[in-house]
Amino acid sequence: MAASASFMKINVQHPIKPMFLLKPASQKPSRIRCAAATTKPSKRYSITLLPGDGIGPEVISVAKHVLNLAGSLEGIEFNFQEMPMGGSSLDLVGVPLPEETLSAAKKSDAVLLGAIGGYKWDKNEKHLKPETGLLQLREGLQVFANLRPATVLPQLVDASTLKKELTGGIYFGKPRGFGTNEDGEEIGFNTEVYATYEVDRIARVAFETARKRHGKLCSVDKANVLEASMFWRKRVIAVAAEYPDVELSHMYVDNAAMQLVRNPKQFDTIVTNNIFGDILSDEASMITGSIGMLPSASLGSSGPGLFEPIHGSAPDIANQDKANPLATVLSSAMLLKYGLGEENAAKRIENAVLETLNKGFRTGDIYSAGNKLVGCKEMGEEVLKSVDSQVAAAV
Ligand code: IPM
Ligand code: MG
Repeated sequence: MAASASFMKINVQHPIKPMFLLKPASQKPSRIRCAAATTKPSKRYSITLLPGDGIGPEVISVAKHVLNLAGSLEGIEFNFQEMPMGGSSLDLVGVPLPEETLSAAKKSDAVLLGAIGGYKWDKNEKHLKPETGLLQLREGLQVFANLRPATVLPQLVDASTLKKELTGGIYFGKPRGFGTNEDGEEIGFNTEVYATYEVDRIARVAFETARKRHGKLCSVDKANVLEASMFWRKRVIAVAAEYPDVELSHMYVDNAAMQLVRNPKQFDTIVTNNIFGDILSDEASMITGSIGMLPSASLGSSGPGLFEPIHGSAPDIANQDKANPLATVLSSAMLLKYGLGEENAAKRIENAVLETLNKGFRTGDIYSAGNKLVGCKEMGEEVLKSVDSQVAAAV
């Protein structure tokens, strides 16, 4: 598990080289066109690609090829547009989320993000941090519901799924800032605040999800201490009246952190706030095998969704062809399924990932003796081969 630890060191440590592509993405390989030629006329979607920093560009490049191939087999054509975002955007144009990027994202059918952040920008003022760009993007797209399915290796059995509220809570609450207290001591402060509509809408997404799974929903809070959590719990209970078929339970976040390690199978669907969800999803990723495997989908009530791996930019392994691209590949499957309603193309990608794992291909973070250690590019090639072989089977 040594390599997986490197993924945990997201957004830290080493300076990384800026890289950027402020241009429409080039169309991809001839094998993809061949496959497309065998299918019906195209549906077209425009996808904004935000490669970002660290390993972001490497994993996005793999996901783009996989999307192209799986799409072409289902008569889907993509128009990709790569835009700057995060630290590399700071280096390029001085802000972490240029207006052009947000407006391109808003105009597209879906947005696929790699990862942002790195040591180089860690000491920047808050408005000049890569992470601020990500929060602005989520806010700008109004994607309040964040789906983080946690799947278990090696067979990738569906273990549980976590819904994290994404555009509210302590990340956005006011007042916030730095100041001095009455003793003249310097302070930093934030506010955890949720309005009725914010809890109700994420609760509904969670109840709907639980209904489609095993009908069990656990709401995680800190209602033994925090008013914002007491309110959260009150609203979740109120919304539960609309879903009598779903079994609702509540758990304090400290206990949930422990129970996730002790017996993750007890959970079906978890709903929680922005910050608890951030922490618990990293924990869940290690239980399931690696943070390099877990995708996410962020959805609003309308407009394009935002799809991204839950891992960070892992600057310590950037540009070394060591990253696990599967979380981003699986995020592109979520993009097809939840963003575009293209379930068949999504299935093709999910199956190809399973098949690639079944053949024993592993990046460093999920490697164990007896398997074949591959880099980011080769893992991508293997997934493409598996998508291709499904064509042969289908013809
Ligand atoms: C995540 C990340 C972000 C979050 C950061 C980079 C702002 O950790 O998506 O899990 O905390 O939401
Ligand atoms: Mg996180």
